[in-house]
Amino acid sequence: MIAALASGTGTILEALISAELPIEVVLVDRPCAAEKVAERAGIPIELVERSFAPGFDRDAYSESILAALAPHRPRLIAMAGFGTVLGAAVFAAYAGRILNTHPSLLPAFKGWHAVAQALGAGVSETGCTVHIATLEVDAGPILAQEAVPVYSDDDESTLHERIKQVERRLYPTAIRCFLAGMQAAGASRGDKEVP
Ligand code: GRF
Repeated sequence: MIAALASGTGTILEALISAELPIEVVLVDRPCAAEKVAERAGIPIELVERSFAPGFDRDAYSESILAALAPHRPRLIAMAGFGTVLGAAVFAAYAGRILNTHPSLLPAFKGWHAVAQALGAGVSETGCTVHIATLEVDAGPILAQEAVPVYSDDDESTLHERIKQVERRLYPTAIRCFLAGMQAAGASRGDKEVP
């Protein structure tokens, strides 16, 4: 039912798996530790390797993602530290059904360097945000947020780890609520097969 997209160490993915969410496939955009997490859990992996060369064709890459996901027929996509900005075709195919967790209190500190930006800005708290992903990066409707304190001796890694500890709890809960909402909406429409 869920396709999880990951690129990194896979600790958020691991939290989704531990929460027993129905993850049917893990798609990664590069060889990464998240593959091992999926492998250990016996979840099929799709490696759709991206290029980092100048002129990277985001639209063609997005079509490859759609092709890799299609046989798994996911109802929901959960980004779990996915390092590629998805193109319009993916958002058209899964409109309103792509979730993301971001390590800041959005709309503050969008983008890939959210934790470093929070440290650089000297804020006393930052946090994490679970939201519906849209074509505009880190801008979709917010589903859940939680604040995390910043300590004076924090570096990027200690602060990110403190944020991730919250994400590992908040994201699975938010996904579960979202799935329940999808199910209720499907039932009220009279869908034969509800997610
Ligand atoms: C998380 O902080 C998530 O918000 C961000 O990437 C990180 C993934 O962590 N998008 P991990 O690789 O699962 O440990």
